[in-house]
This record gives sequence, structure tokens and C-alpha cells, in this order.
Amino acid sequence: MARPVIIRTPEAMQEWSRQMRAQGMTIGFVPTMGYLHEGHLDLMRIARQQADLVVISIFVNPLQFGPSEDLDRYPRDLEGDLDKAASVGVDLVFAPTARDMYPEGFQTSVDVSELSKPLCGAKRPGHFRGVTTVVAKLFNIVLPHFAVFGRKDYQQLQVIKRMVRDLSMNLDILEGETVRESDGLAMSSRNAYLSPEERSQATVLYRALTRTRQAVLDGRVATPEEAVRMAEDIISSAPLARIDYVECLDASELVPRDDFSRPMVLATAVFFGKTRLIDNILIPATLKGSQG
Ligand code: PAJ
Repeated sequence: MARPVIIRTPEAMQEWSRQMRAQGMTIGFVPTMGYLHEGHLDLMRIARQQADLVVISIFVNPLQFGPSEDLDRYPRDLEGDLDKAASVGVDLVFAPTARDMYPEGFQTSVDVSELSKPLCGAKRPGHFRGVTTVVAKLFNIVLPHFAVFGRKDYQQLQVIKRMVRDLSMNLDILEGETVRESDGLAMSSRNAYLSPEERSQATVLYRALTRTRQAVLDGRVATPEEAVRMAEDIISSAPLARIDYVECLDASELVPRDDFSRPMVLATAVFFGKTRLIDNILIPATLKGSQG
């Protein structure tokens, strides 16, 4: 398939989108930080099915990385990414420089205050402000009719949906399921950092989430607190795993609850060496919980 067009500047991108909109074309958008894998490609396939034109962005956004995080070593492979994007029918790749996105004097941010607080927000101060700011800016540049995000980054998805709702942004947000390796590990650009030993132990995340969810559904675990303990115990059985957090929160508001009478999300972040992996699973409201 033909290589997608590359646009480098916000001005040229916005102009292209304006012209396409004027011709009545619909634009589907998938923002990424590149080093594309099947999880990203799945979102692009969803966009391909629904839009006349599919735009992706590749931008490793400095605003969402903390001072001691992996901004400088974040994996990059633009050539490989262009081939992969072509294989799923992407029309255009927007790949700006940090200088063009954040020229001197840049000082505005978007902050979804409450949903950004727990989980990764508590462990990575300023991370979600960086995400919502860049995503709001990308929406204004790409002018999409809809954008697609993955459930792998569950809190990010909730934060972005709330931003769009709260600020009356004129687009729809679509969701893609978490795409996994055959052994259950959620696909992530950061999996490239793992040593063979870490990679084989990293399967413990999804195993902990699925076993714990099953225990809740079977009635063997009655409270979110117990679910957290069970998942922590399973993860701790992997010698190289260092837990950053395990939490079980209300799936839409990301606040604690006493029981499973509403849908909950069980979410975890775990370090293997310097590499931080995240994963999550939804636990539907149980009948027992909803009857009180
Ligand atoms: P990145 O980590 O590159 O992810 C881009 C999109 O791919 C996000 O919507 C993410 O949820 C989705 N994704 C990643 N791994 C996935 C998997 N295994 N299954 C399904 N979807 C997956 O998330 C970001 O970039 C950035 O924060 C961004 C939104 C681009 C803002 O900078």
C-alpha cells in the first residue's frame, strides 16, 4: 500500500484538514507516540472503517514525561512506523517537532482535575496535564470528526472523554480493546525495554488481573480491598516485579467504593527494572453487590 503523506507543521496540518472538511470528507484520528505495534494498528483499523480519511500523529510529547522518566530513551522508528501505518490504510501522518508544538512562550494547559488524581496521576505528577494539553492541541490542529483511544491506558481514556465533554469539544471519542501478546502481556512500546527474564515474568500482570476478576465473579472475593490484596499477592510472586500501585476503583469516576455494586476497574502499574508497565481489567457489577 502507498506510504502515507507526512506533514510536519501544525499550520500545514490544519490547512490540509480544513480543505478536506470543505470537500465533505470525514477525518478519523489516532494520536500516538510512535514505535507502533498491533495495539496502535487496531485503533487505526477502527478509524479506517468509519472515516473517509485516517490521520495519525507521531509525537513523543515532552509535556507528559516527568524529569526522571524515559523521554530521552523512548523508542523511535519513523521508517518502520510509516510502513505499518501504510499497511492499515493510514492516509496521513502528522509528525511535528517539539519546537513547533511548543514554541517559546507556550504556557497554556488543560487539566481534568479529579480524574487525573488517582492511579498514574498520583505516581506521575503533571502527566495527565501533559496528555490533555497535547491532545486538546492535536484536536485543534487535526480537526477530526472522531478520535480513537485504547482501553490499555484506561485512566487516559476516561480523562480524555471527560475533557471532551466538559469543554464541549466537537468530536466523538471511540475506544479500542487492549491488544495483547499471545501470553497475555498488553502490547506496549515500552515492552521493547524488557530483558528476556523480565519479559517472561511480565505476564504476571494480566494473570493477576484475570484471576482476581474471576475470584470476584465467583464470590470468593467480596470487596475491592480484598481484590487489591489478591492481585498484589499474585504480582509479588514474580521476583523481578516491583509494584507501583494496584487499585480497584469505580470504573467511571475512579474513586474508591466499598463493594462491587457498580462496575469497577482493577488497575496496576509494575516496575521491571526501570521499565514501568501498566494494565487494567473491568469487573462488572456483581448481582450480590447490587442487591446490597
Ligand atoms: P501511545 O502510548 O503511543 O498510545 C497511543 C494510543 O494507543 C493510546 O490511545 C493507547 O491507549 C493505545 N494503545 C497502546 N497500547 C495499546 C494496546 N496494547 N491495546 C490497545 N490500545 C493501545 O497514549 C499515548 O501514546 C499518548 O499519551 C498520547 C495519547 C498520544 C498523547 O501524547
